[in-house]
Amino acid sequence: MPIREPGICVVDVEKGELRGASNRYTKTMADLAGLYEDEAAYKAALAKLDDKVVYEVTDFKPSADAGDMIIGVTRMIPGKVGNEYFLTRGHIHANANRPEMYYGEAGHGIMLLESPAGEIRTVEIGPRSMCYVPPYWIHRSVNVGTTELVMTFAYPADSGQDYDIIAKAGGMRSRIVDDGKGGWKAVDNAGYRFRSRELVESIMAK
Ligand SMILES: [Fe+2]
Repeated sequence: MPIREPGICVVDVEKGELRGASNRYTKTMADLAGLYEDEAAYKAALAKLDDKVVYEVTDFKPSADAGDMIIGVTRMIPGKVGNEYFLTRGHIHANANRPEMYYGEAGHGIMLLESPAGEIRTVEIGPRSMCYVPPYWIHRSVNVGTTELVMTFAYPADSGQDYDIIAKAGGMRSRIVDDGKGGWKAVDNAGYRFRSRELVESIMAK
């Protein structure tokens, strides 16, 4: 790996972005088809939000080299599709043995994690809390608050993202929904299909 120049980026918590970022990507509700259980509520949300950005990522990616690091900021607006809180698409790292760190800057979020074998964990994230996403865990963030969820993150530059692992299982095993008392709860996803032992072993062998 070559010697690289040090860098500095500023986290703009108000705007929910990284100033000095080299990349930005945005997702609208249209990009999130198939993620929510309530199809009618999804269509209503689609009509209401139109091309409004639901979440965005700004990051500083020096390279994709092993041993290098990507840093960035993610911002998600609050809201629900039916009783299900807004979420990110979610992924496992393509190099599955790579970890990640998320640091809460503003808002109230859940990191929903699922092991390849289908174990579920929920980690609550607020300002100044730091979430460790271990290697091999599928992860997705969910905004369970009433304001924008802003988090800083860092992960190894050669991690990559595999989004298909979630789609192929019919979603993640749990959905994060309104508990009817202003909070959240995790409920079973009726459409979930467990991965075969062979598939789990092949992921864990990475
Ligand atoms: Fe990740």
